Amino acid sequence: MTGAATHPGPALVGDRSFFEARPLSGALGLEVCGIDLSQPLTDETVASIRAAFNENHVLVFREQHLTPEQQMAFGRRFGELDTHPFVDGSDAHPEVLEIITEPDDRINFGGGWHSDVTFLDEPDLGSILFAVELPTTGGDTLFANQHAAYDALSDVMKGLLDGLVGLHSAGPQYGAGGYSTKSKAMATKNQELAARVVEHPVVRTHPENGLKSLYVNAAFTVGIKGMKKEESNALLGFLFRHTVREPFTCRVQWEPGTLVMWDNRSVQHYALHDYVGQRRHVRRITVKGDRPT
Ligand code: SIN
Repeated sequence: MTGAATHPGPALVGDRSFFEARPLSGALGLEVCGIDLSQPLTDETVASIRAAFNENHVLVFREQHLTPEQQMAFGRRFGELDTHPFVDGSDAHPEVLEIITEPDDRINFGGGWHSDVTFLDEPDLGSILFAVELPTTGGDTLFANQHAAYDALSDVMKGLLDGLVGLHSAGPQYGAGGYSTKSKAMATKNQELAARVVEHPVVRTHPENGLKSLYVNAAFTVGIKGMKKEESNALLGFLFRHTVREPFTCRVQWEPGTLVMWDNRSVQHYALHDYVGQRRHVRRITVKGDRPT
């Protein structure tokens, strides 16, 4: 096991006069106060939010009152919105996923460590989730800083991983017999895409902050190019454990009206399902990203 994270932790950046902010943990995440996201934002405010996002990877905004249209308008300030290839959006807006876990659901959406849609050639830049209805307790979301996970590796391991190519597929989640087939809400469709394997660097460089991060996840990374199965299983097994170690994490406790945006280029996340028997409803949009390099 490697030592403690060497990442310096969240920094407050941007013009602080726009907002008050408080770190969520020593590893990543920033709670931002004093911005009403239902209102049109100035370019300066958006630039300040973007700077804080690139530095802290997870931003939490409390006490928001947002219609789907206002949430989409906020998301569009960061790029074009995406649709999910396997989960249907709302009737009014295909880009909006109403993620509802019913009291009798056996599984939940996002219930395992992952980065969103890494099975696509161009995975989403980030996701923006708004809490509509929450269980009385539980239903938190965990995040893990993949820059910090990379930084904590030895130089020998970094040298081994730099240049390796990960193989990603939607099959284990959305293919026939995959995780999602246990859920009513996540009907299996698009089997052609579920059978595809795409290649991404195991170590990617963030296009905006320039930092390296680990880019494999247990949900969608199925192998390492050129390695025998038992070799890649051993290496990925180590990486899946290492990338989500506690020193790299923060935890978001939701309240109705909380909005969280996270950077899929630098974090993994895990939606806990510790509220069986209760309902949870969150509304998600995603911003398109580019090909990882
Ligand atoms: C997701 O993985 O997008 C869902 C996260 C959550 O419900 O907290």
